Amino acid sequence: MAESKLARTARIRPSGRLRFSDGARSGTKGLLRVAGAKVLTTFYRRMLFMSYPLDGAEIPVYNANVSVQFDQLKPDELDSYLRFRPDSDRREMAQRLSAGHRCFVCWHEGEIVEACWSATSDIYVGYVRRYLRVPDGDVYSFDSYADPRFRGRGVYMARNSYQARLNRAEGLKRSIALVAYENYAAWLILSRSGLKTLGAYHYVRLPGSGIYWNTPAPGQVLPPLTAKSSAAAAQRGRVFQARQA
Ligand SMILES: CC(C)(COP(=O)(O)OP(=O)(O)OC[C@H]1O[C@@H](n2cnc3c(N)ncnc32)[C@H](O)[C@@H]1OP(=O)(O)O)[C@@H](O)C(=O)NCCC(=O)NCCS
Repeated sequence: MAESKLARTARIRPSGRLRFSDGARSGTKGLLRVAGAKVLTTFYRRMLFMSYPLDGAEIPVYNANVSVQFDQLKPDELDSYLRFRPDSDRREMAQRLSAGHRCFVCWHEGEIVEACWSATSDIYVGYVRRYLRVPDGDVYSFDSYADPRFRGRGVYMARNSYQARLNRAEGLKRSIALVAYENYAAWLILSRSGLKTLGAYHYVRLPGSGIYWNTPAPGQVLPPLTAKSSAAAAQRGRVFQARQA
């Protein structure tokens, strides 16, 4: 019974027929896929809900093939973060930190070369214009990025593993992520990292608030997407952060 449920869950996967560009050079078919994804997502957006159990799971340890040190970004290190991601907005990054969200970073020779944000309280998901209510015991990871000069050297996998082991030691039960249905490359990377797809959120972009619904895999319940952030959840995130300090 449990096995057949798992088999059905494993079948949830994006088709990849329409997909966002992953930066690789592509022919006419590839360009049509990207153009189709752009047109479709102007009106209709989907995000897949993915999860990785932290409790009771054997978390593999990966080592990067370049020397890196893992840490959590401190408010006085924002300059380094902005050198690493010059397109990001200082105020937004500072707000993330003061809201209790954390940024796990990889340092190499005094510079950040890879980073990933995490949240244990409500988090705004701009793509669907809603807050994700992160359930108690879950940690939501988002906005991971590696310096293009350091890609393909296992830095992301190594930091991911470090972060998951640390989150488990903190008592967190599940790591969760959202990925756009058309972001096929990111879905592949998250799946390779061991995350399972447990359902999808749907958003029809209409003037006003739009139409929302979700389609969980059998036996799954997806956390709500809400129009407003709950102050209680935000406070929970800050308390969690203070406990870790
Ligand atoms: C995604 C990203 C962080 C990976 O960083 P990285 O340090 O190069 O990753 P790693 O070297 O640890 O490789 C991670 C795995 O993802 C795979 N991978 C990386 N890019 C990929 C792509 N475009 N398509 C498919 N798989 C890919 C690697 O092959 C590797 O899998 P493997 O261990 O089975 O070989 C980096 O490519 C990036 O910053 N991309 C732009 C931002 C982005 O897409 N973020 C979303 C990530 S879910």
